[in-house]
Formats: sequence, C-alpha cells, structure tokens
Amino acid sequence: MSLLEIENLSVTFQTGDGPVNAVNGVSLGIDKGETLAIVGESGSGKSQTAFAAMGLLAQNGKATGQVRYDGRNLLELPQKALNKIRSQEIAMIFQDPMTSLNPYMRISDQMAEVLMLHKGMSKRDAVSEAAKMLDAVRIPDAKARVTMYPHEFSGGMRQRIMIAMALLCKPRLLIADEPTTALDVTVQAQIMQLLGEIRYEFGTAIILITHDLGIVAGFCDRTLVMYGGQIMEEGATRDVFAAPSHPYTLGLLKAVPRLDRDDSELATIAGEPPDMSKLPKGCPFSQRCEFVLDKCPSVRPALETFGDDRRRACHVPVPEVTP
Ligand SMILES: Nc1ncnc2c1ncn2[C@@H]1O[C@H](COP(=O)(O)OP(=O)(O)OP(=O)(O)O)[C@@H](O)[C@H]1O
Ligand SMILES: [Mg+2]
Repeated sequence: MSLLEIENLSVTFQTGDGPVNAVNGVSLGIDKGETLAIVGESGSGKSQTAFAAMGLLAQNGKATGQVRYDGRNLLELPQKALNKIRSQEIAMIFQDPMTSLNPYMRISDQMAEVLMLHKGMSKRDAVSEAAKMLDAVRIPDAKARVTMYPHEFSGGMRQRIMIAMALLCKPRLLIADEPTTALDVTVQAQIMQLLGEIRYEFGTAIILITHDLGIVAGFCDRTLVMYGGQIMEEGATRDVFAAPSHPYTLGLLKAVPRLDRDDSELATIAGEPPDMSKLPKGCPFSQRCEFVLDKCPSVRPALETFGDDRRRACHVPVPEVTP
C-alpha cells in the first residue's frame, strides 16, 4: 500500500483575471522509502501539487480530490491533526533555506524548539539532538557550530541545516521542492548525495520536485512528468529516460546537457508554457507538440497504463515517440 496517495487532485486559484487551473486531476502514489521525481517546466503545477497535498495553498487557492495518508484524507483533516502530520510525519524543504530559517535565532534554538514542542524534550537534550542531526547532515564541528546564526553558514550549509531540521522528527516522507536550484553544481551534487544517504539511513521516502532532469537520473526510482497541471507520463526513471513515451518528455530530455553528446545538439522546446487560465480542452502540450494530431487540441488524452508499470497521456502511439 502506498505511503501517500493523491487521487484526482485539482487546484484552482481565483484571480482578478478569472480562475487559474494550476493542477488538473493529478493522481500519484509513493511507497515507503521510495524516491519519486516530479519534473516539468516552470509553471507546470509541481509545487502546487505538493502545497495542496500539505494544506499550504495560498488564500485564493482551493483543492479538490483526495490526499490519503494513513487512511485519512489530508484535504479534510482539521488544522490541528494536519499540523501534527506536517511537523512529524511529512516534512518539506524548499529552494531557499532562508525562507524557513529565522535569521535572528541561533540554529540550536530553532532546532530545539521543534523537539521541545513535538517530542517533549528538555532544552538540553534537544540541543544535543540538534547537534547530532547537524552531524548527520555532515556539518563539520557540529557541536560547536550548532549555536551559530544562519548567516554564519554558506548557502550549501544552510540547505544542509534545512534538511537536518526537516529530519528532526524522523518523518516518513520528505518533500523537497527544488532543494538545490539556488546552489552551484558542486554543492548541488553534495546535497543530492546527502539526500541519498538519508534515504538509506532513515528509510525516508522522498518526493523530489525539480525542473532539472540531470539530477533525477541518478537519484529517483520513479519519474513523473507534469505539464499544464497534468501528468504527461510516469514510470521507472530508467525507463522514462531510456525510452520516453511522451513528446513532452522527449523534448525535456533533449534539453539536458550530456557529456556524450555535442552541446550544439541541445534543443529547447519551442513555444511557451500554456496560460493556465486558458488551457485547451484537449492536451495542454498540443500547441507545442511536434507530433500533434488533429484531435489533440480538442480531445484530452486519458492517462493510461502501459508496459512495465508506466502511465502516459498521449494520443500518439508509443513507437512513434520513442527515439
Ligand atoms: N496564488 C496564486 N494565484 C494564482 N495563480 C497561482 C498562485 N500560485 C500559483 N499560481 C499558478 O499556478 C501555476 C502552477 O504553479 P506551480 O508553482 O505549481 O509551478 P511549478 O511547476 O512549481 O513551477 P516552478 O518550476 O517555477 O516552481 C502557475 O501558473 C502559477 O502562476
Ligand atoms: Mg515550483
């Protein structure tokens, strides 16, 4: 059984220009200890899918559907029960650690607060546990540095601290939304390695949200591709990369720099991501798709299962898409 199961999730924002349909009928599941990547260009609905599941939508947003965790629908849970799950069982980390760290508080105090509140620890035990966790995310000299302020750490170190904070209550699921986007490539690789180690050490399931397919390949068991707030395809990462079944995935993969290929071949997908307040009735990608068929703009392809536990939403037959 899945650890978290999202069924037919939709998110609509009310704006001055009318409703924006940011997420449109997304269904996905993640198992214990599994890693799932959600990829897609900017605006494809990746973050809002996660935010809706966690009850973190902006005021003007409304979610429908089901988000099942431990037999309960998180969308209908009272605030208090939801808070408990959010602080202890499902943790989220974001792109910019400074949005989650308090610049005026010592790291020790910020981390201890969490443990005192949720685990009933004494201040002393909590600070010692916080130092242990900093050590676990490879902060050198953690015991001495735990009393420092966030600005005394580099960006990469701050992201490690964020991860340590997220792991304090040993969550079963970690949702990481673009956790390395603000970091340079070397630090990015270190953080990804750290997340990998954490997964083995703590058995934490991880949903990794990213627009960077390069970091997905070596990290995630499964990959789910989103566009226009919908799932375009999903499958084992190695299958999706070796044989993409959707024209959009194919386009994304062509845009990933690779060492074994001349960079001049690097292609971006022509056209712009869709306006989420004016999505076509059919496939949202039809306006940019090089394989487009007559019915694509008007008939929305269903998300169908095929092959080895894969799903795709596309009218074009698989062999025509796969290179
Ligand atoms: N409060 C809001 N009001 C109106 N529209 C919103 C609001 N929040 C998000 N959106 C819209 O929802 C859509 C999906 O946004 P989302 O943040 O999920 O994209 P994303 O895939 O995470 O992109 P990125 O890679 O840039 O983070 C976007 O078109 C965005 O403009
Ligand atoms: Mg996002």
